[in-house]
Amino acid sequence: MSTINHKQKLIVANWKMNPVSLKEADSIIRTVKSGIKKLENVKVVICPPYFYISNIKSGTAFDVGAQNVFWEDSGAYTGEISSKMAKNLGAGYAIIGHSERRIYLGETDKIVNQKINSALKNGLKPVFCVGESREERDKDRAGDVIANEIEKGLEGVPEGYLMNNNLIIAYEPIWAIGTGNTPTSDDIMSMALLIRKVITKLYDRKIADNLPIIYGGSVNSENALDFVDKAGMDGLLVGGASLNASEFVRIVNLFS
Ligand code: PGA
Repeated sequence: MSTINHKQKLIVANWKMNPVSLKEADSIIRTVKSGIKKLENVKVVICPPYFYISNIKSGTAFDVGAQNVFWEDSGAYTGEISSKMAKNLGAGYAIIGHSERRIYLGETDKIVNQKINSALKNGLKPVFCVGESREERDKDRAGDVIANEIEKGLEGVPEGYLMNNNLIIAYEPIWAIGTGNTPTSDDIMSMALLIRKVITKLYDRKIADNLPIIYGGSVNSENALDFVDKAGMDGLLVGGASLNASEFVRIVNLFS
């Protein structure tokens, strides 16, 4: 697995359940590949549906990630795909705890925790998503919600697993996903500070300081730079805009 160079910004593309054919996936990848200037200062991780992982892995210099993993390595779990399988397929990362899975598929903090443990054990870097709802933010509960998600999600995760930037936290306010609404740079910065405080409490300062924290939710080529330069994020988790190849290229090239 390639490691994240600390100067590199991490740009994770979350394709979600798109596109509907390998042909379309190939076409996005071809445009992205030819449009990106250089990858010296930026690490691009494409998280496509499972079907497309091998193709993207073999045809590009990008890192590839899964959008979900199951916590057991193998067994009688119809329909599931394990961290071990994702790793064997060439994935280096796994998005875990995305709010869409928490909301539509009933993923609890306990399930998220099992998946994080399984990913780390199998050498996948979890992109651990946390975020508050609009209502929670309006009630001033965002900080508590995020702290609780992190504490529960990392329960029993040994400190040794968190070395070498092996875990990435993605702050994704639920109300910002796919809506065009985004938090202010100050709000993002204070959430990142809170996340590092929680990690310091659970582990230590060194781990907290080195933890990559990325932002996700309505990222596009117009606002991407601010999240990194003004809000101090280590990278971005890009949903909708990552399926528009030329828009995604514009985002990546802001950092390359
Ligand atoms: P969005 O999605 O960029 O379309 O808001 C982000 C995500 O859900 O990861």
